[in-house]
Amino acid sequence: MHVATPEGTALITGASSGIGAVYADRLAARGHDLILVARDRTRLEAQAQRLQDSHHVKVQIQVADLTNGQALDALAEHLRGDTTISVLVNNAGVAMQGSLAGSDPAALLQMVALNVTAPTRLAQAAAANFTAAGRGAIINLGSVVALAPGLFNVAYTASKGYILSLSEALQAELAPAGVRVQAVLPGITRTEIWERSGAGLDQLPAHMVMEAEAMVDAALRGFDQGETVTLPSLPDAEDWNRLLAARAALGPNLSLSQPAPRYRTEA
Ligand SMILES: NC(=O)c1ccc[n+]([C@@H]2O[C@H](COP(=O)([O-])OP(=O)(O)OC[C@H]3O[C@@H](n4cnc5c(N)ncnc54)[C@H](OP(=O)(O)O)[C@@H]3O)[C@@H](O)[C@H]2O)c1
Repeated sequence: MHVATPEGTALITGASSGIGAVYADRLAARGHDLILVARDRTRLEAQAQRLQDSHHVKVQIQVADLTNGQALDALAEHLRGDTTISVLVNNAGVAMQGSLAGSDPAALLQMVALNVTAPTRLAQAAAANFTAAGRGAIINLGSVVALAPGLFNVAYTASKGYILSLSEALQAELAPAGVRVQAVLPGITRTEIWERSGAGLDQLPAHMVMEAEAMVDAALRGFDQGETVTLPSLPDAEDWNRLLAARAALGPNLSLSQPAPRYRTEA
């Protein structure tokens, strides 16, 4: 009989490939049992077998299309009620190429469902579970495009901006309950997401492309250091801290009874 690990179980979405598969490996190495979620049963089964053999942890798989409302609800309900779960990695995501005007509306809404709706619903369930337990962590995969509007597909950029905002606001809400939230903002990372969205990595400068293993290892170090937002390739953390300080300085003036002088109509 398997005895539940003291580390708790990590539920990882999009664990069949890329960044999610590396998180599965690294969290198993840290002693977490796993629940691996994705659509491809064959890949999930192979991944589960490999992780069980190499790390001797319990690995369950959950085949689910997270753009399907019923499947998402069922997973969220499980996440809400299973008190062995201590980590949620909201990782499943897709990207798109091209302009917003030229995009296929169905594909656009599918991306929003996966990149925005699903992590929000799962974060809600995890927040309820972990708050009651007084422990736990929610790791959300954003992207550096959230900090660089205009460089990449509009809706993908906006979906990752949402993840950054969700994570920072949720960290503020859950910190008093002893629950951690981290947004991970990778740059270009070598995974299938590029081919899947119809783009290639080959034409991109090699010095801008990180391997998924290096990205996840850095993100976990950032997590261990207590970061709410982790930018794996940013050399100087003070650059981010300066941005936070500049944003905080806006605070006292963000809501006042009068419009700023430049917006007042002349008498
Ligand atoms: N790679 C990069 O350059 C990069 C940069 C910044 C941020 N990110 C973010 O990192 C995260 C992971 O992406 P990745 O690069 O590792 O891409 P990936 O290799 O394509 O992995 C995406 C994962 O999501 C799963 N998935 C896709 N659609 C799904 C659906 N409808 N329901 C459930 N699972 C679904 C896929 O599995 P199935 O096909 O089996 O369902 C796969 O396991 C994403 O949120 C992405 O936006 C990536």
